[in-house]
Amino acid sequence: EDPLLGNQPRTLDEARAEAKHCQACSLWEPATQTVFGKGPDDAPVIFVGEQPGDQEDIAGEPFVGPAGKVFDSALADAGIDRSRAYVTNAVKHFKFVPRGKRRIHQKPSMGEVKACRFWLEMERDIVKPKLVVALGATAAATVLGKSVTIRDTRSKLIDLDAETKLLVTVHPAYILRLPDPDLQAKETEAFNRDMALVRETV
Ligand code: URA
Repeated sequence: EDPLLGNQPRTLDEARAEAKHCQACSLWEPATQTVFGKGPDDAPVIFVGEQPGDQEDIAGEPFVGPAGKVFDSALADAGIDRSRAYVTNAVKHFKFVPRGKRRIHQKPSMGEVKACRFWLEMERDIVKPKLVVALGATAAATVLGKSVTIRDTRSKLIDLDAETKLLVTVHPAYILRLPDPDLQAKETEAFNRDMALVRETV
């Protein structure tokens, strides 16, 4: 044990083991499990989503459902190897309301985001990435500690500290939900361009 750090986790595996038992907000109870981030301790980039969805809750891994497919395809398009990146969420438990056999995703509250923020800070402390990518407004607000609009912040490299930059882009689920195929194609292209900027930056 480090005399100054105490039992504070120093690796992602240690942090993940601790987060398994997190009850900092009430979302832990109905959820299947904590969905902690995934990727190497020395990843040059951290991608931050909002919170796990239905499939992530069951798998215990971030971005494995429909939004994950959009994400994977943009990474492939940009030539980014997902296994070299660290992928996580602002909130680490699935929030939902049951509707028949389905579980409908609910947006996390400010209180839930705040209660969970500590884990993302720990992930950043351990990984010390060159770049943090916020996928959507919830992730951007969590990283910046204040609410921002995608319109004002998107596609710019924002200094978080001397070593780390932030790139804000849309959430892949936003692209999935667009009803107009033309707009969807346009937004997919814009998202892929943001991923190309990630590739150039890290
Ligand atoms: N949406 C997110 O924000 N995160 C996931 O892990 C999956 C869907």
